[in-house]
Amino acid sequence: MPVAVLRLGHRLGRDKRTTTHLILTARALGAHRCYLTAPDPEVQQTVAALQRRWGTTLEVVVQRNWRKVLKERRGGAIHLTMYGENLPTVLPALQALVERTGKEELLVVVGGAKVPGEVYALADFNVAVGNQPHSEVAALAILLENLGGREALQADFGGPLRIVPQARGKVVDDATAR
Ligand SMILES: C[S@@+](CC[C@H](N)C(=O)[O-])C[C@H]1O[C@@H](n2cnc3c(N)ncnc32)[C@H](O)[C@@H]1O
Repeated sequence: MPVAVLRLGHRLGRDKRTTTHLILTARALGAHRCYLTAPDPEVQQTVAALQRRWGTTLEVVVQRNWRKVLKERRGGAIHLTMYGENLPTVLPALQALVERTGKEELLVVVGGAKVPGEVYALADFNVAVGNQPHSEVAALAILLENLGGREALQADFGGPLRIVPQARGKVVDDATAR
């Protein structure tokens, strides 16, 4: 299932760390695209530099028109919000959505400071990862893990740098040094 994240409400400068973490978390859990509704050269450069070393598996697409992304999607859309239906309750329905729309991109919508009301109507599901406020990065990770993102934890990302997992210590295989 191809997964894309639609990041709403990114504030230049202020949100750069959270948005960078959001994108890298999405990538680590297998997402292949992130739509940024505001260009942020710092975020884009950080992600590009990291992917050059660790493998380019995710595309960052700047699209100011979030409505267009939501309305023109071909697959399902899940909006993460603490006000939504709680994940454990709605998970079977989300899995059914993924099965139904399997080959199409699943869009996961993540908010920022304030999410326009229209988003709640345009999404197929408004999903809470627990009905308490917390972090968009944590909410995204838990959702993706529940929808099969665990597979990506063991995937080969194809970059020149590869970690050789160790019980203790650090071993990194650098293909460019061979
Ligand atoms: C700083 S929070 C703002 C909280 C926001 N009022 C809301 O609707 O969840 C930014 C984003 O984190 C995500 N988020 C925060 N808590 C969440 C939760 N319990 N479940 C799912 N998503 C959450 C949502 O995508 C939200 O738009």
